[in-house]
Amino acid sequence: MENFTYHNPTRIRFGRGQIAAVDRELPADAKVMLLAGGGSIKRNGVYDQVRRALGRRTVFEFFGVEANPDYDTLMKAVGLCRREKADWILAVGGGSVLDGAKFVAAAVPFAGEPWDILARQARITQSLPIGTVLTLPATGSEANDSAVISRRSIREKLAFINPLVFPRFSILDPETTFSLPARQVANGIGDAFCHVVEQYLTYPADAALQDRFAESIMQVLIEEGTKTLAQPTDYAARANLVWAATWGLNGAIGLGVPQDWATHMIGHELTALHGIDHARTLAIVLPSLLQVQREGKRAKLLQYGARVWNLHEGSEDVRIDAVIAATRKFFESLGIPTRLANYGVKADSAAEVARRLQARGMVRLGERGDITPAVVEKILRLAA
Ligand code: NZQ
Ligand code: ZN
Repeated sequence: MENFTYHNPTRIRFGRGQIAAVDRELPADAKVMLLAGGGSIKRNGVYDQVRRALGRRTVFEFFGVEANPDYDTLMKAVGLCRREKADWILAVGGGSVLDGAKFVAAAVPFAGEPWDILARQARITQSLPIGTVLTLPATGSEANDSAVISRRSIREKLAFINPLVFPRFSILDPETTFSLPARQVANGIGDAFCHVVEQYLTYPADAALQDRFAESIMQVLIEEGTKTLAQPTDYAARANLVWAATWGLNGAIGLGVPQDWATHMIGHELTALHGIDHARTLAIVLPSLLQVQREGKRAKLLQYGARVWNLHEGSEDVRIDAVIAATRKFFESLGIPTRLANYGVKADSAAEVARRLQARGMVRLGERGDITPAVVEKILRLAA
């Protein structure tokens, strides 16, 4: 296990009725910018609960943050925040709204060109405080310090990470997620599952706790995710799904271990180029990436097969074939197709994605830095 520092400052308030606690989390005199998406929170009662909890505080509302939050939209929120001198941001929605809030919180006090926070990883030294009410279990954004922002006008999708944008608090009421369409529930399960895989499926690092923990999160996602899709209002299943997704990317399982975020990096390009849902891009990339990288990942693939999928029979190669097939089948069982062709994307896109990563300097992805643009192209051709 490598050295690490662990500090997750987000206070989680979990369970039914917890939105009321927003009142206790925010200062009485906070000037709050409420950031939200396309309106799902007005239809499922979340907005009413939030407004009740905000009481008599001054609130500026900004709706319209889209899935894959857009830079140009968020800059309008930055303008509103600056004009009205809001001093807290309350994000109410899915990962896109939460990520959008992180960007706005960092951009409002930023003196330079805000796009540089993403494009040049410009150093930020301040951020407005953020609280969140999460309505979609998937990204882990409710308890981490990253955000992914799209800029459609130039077909970019870029991330930034900074401890200043950890939410101060996050409300996780599983009942707020009952209104999710099946497609978004499935996306959330697939995304969270992939987060775990990318922090786990590398090479052994003698991190027994992180390994067992990652394996348990995957098992819970498989079991409770499947239950949730079949029974959307099963509170127990939903609560387990929400909590598992948070732990998938709150930093804990990635401590002191090698990581491989190539699936996400390639996936972000597919979203930027073709508008495919985030989780669906991961389902396209991951099985092929595991196939192409199977030698370097051999030991962990066997461990993953044995402990998560109960695969004990046959030679090593037979078990590795079986575990990659099981992973693909899992995504398909969620209703998420795993081939580029299923999304109308031609195999030629492989070369374009490789070129874009090359231009960005992302030429050594993977836990060993051996996923070069040529390997990316190979992975995507295999995913055709
Ligand atoms: O906009 P509204 O009307 O709210 O509708 C949303 C949106 O259309 C809807 N929705 C959310 N909660 C709902 C609901 N509909 C009914 N009932 C509810 N309770 O769902 C749609 C998708 O929402 P979105 O926030 O886009 O989904 P998700 O949470 O999957 O977030 C995806 C974004 O997160 C980024 C992705 O790249 C993508 O941009 N990620 C962020 C990460 C992070 N911050 O650590 C890591 C992830 O790997 C990921 O990259
Ligand atoms: Zn993700």
